[in-house]
Amino acid sequence: MNNKQKLFDLAIKAAKNAYSPYSNFAVGAAILADDNNFYFGCNVENISYPVGTCAESGAIASMIANGAKQIKEILIFANSKTLIVPCGACRQRIAEFSTPQTLVHLADTEGVQKTYTIDELLPLSFSEF
Ligand code: THU
Repeated sequence: MNNKQKLFDLAIKAAKNAYSPYSNFAVGAAILADDNNFYFGCNVENISYPVGTCAESGAIASMIANGAKQIKEILIFANSKTLIVPCGACRQRIAEFSTPQTLVHLADTEGVQKTYTIDELLPLSFSEF
């Protein structure tokens, strides 16, 4: 199985476990990291709405907790009519652990529909101070 297929399968699996009773919008994210392992997460909402976290946050937290350092590729899946794109905050979160060439795959139920580099999604990102 190729990496993109594995990322897709893991993101779907994560989305099935999403906790999103308030938006009814389930999202899964899967990462291929620099240690060549896969990590994944889902969105986890909260009755205090702003406390909820995006799927990308969960996947990144899992990657970091397991000792990997960098995202080679990330795939984001939602079972939605319009293709999901990561929110602005998640673009910044992804950029923190990426090179400008890190790939961001956007998927619907049919599979990956678009692939961007993180630099295309977040040009001129805040990276130094
Ligand atoms: N959501 C994500 O998990 N990732 C994104 O990139 C966009 C939005 C979640 C947050 C919330 O639980 C639900 O989707 C609706 O906004």
